[in-house]
Amino acid sequence: MIKVAFASDHAGFRLKERLKAYMKEKGYDVEDFGTFNEESCDYPDYAHPAALGVENGDCAFGITMCGTGNGITMTLNKHQGIRAALCWQPEIAALAKQHNNANILSLPARFISEEEAIRIVDAYLKAEYEGGRHQRRIDKISVK
Ligand code: RB5
Repeated sequence: MIKVAFASDHAGFRLKERLKAYMKEKGYDVEDFGTFNEESCDYPDYAHPAALGVENGDCAFGITMCGTGNGITMTLNKHQGIRAALCWQPEIAALAKQHNNANILSLPARFISEEEAIRIVDAYLKAEYEGGRHQRRIDKISVK
């Protein structure tokens, strides 16, 4: 079973729960790195464990969210093995996979509806990495 890492702060908690259920319905296994309620919290506390879960290969990819999506995405991208893409529409999510081989899909929970989020997730899942010239560019991302 393909395992998906989930993480959010309080602002993304409800969307996280909705998308976890959606991914389970689609046959994915889910690992939830928190947060586990709507009490105010700090997104790095959940972003770092989720990033490690993807980096170490335990999870095939991740879906994360905070209010704007910015804080959690900034945190995730501190990890050298993570390419987290903040996506607010399906076309951006598809391109994040096709061109950037994004291994974490990040969402702005306070700025999209659940229905929009599901369309974004579907676009990400359906898209395939194109490799070629994009791999050359990805190879230049890491700071050595
Ligand atoms: C929480 O209020 C909010 O700052 C957080 O969810 C996120 O938007 C930060 O980038």
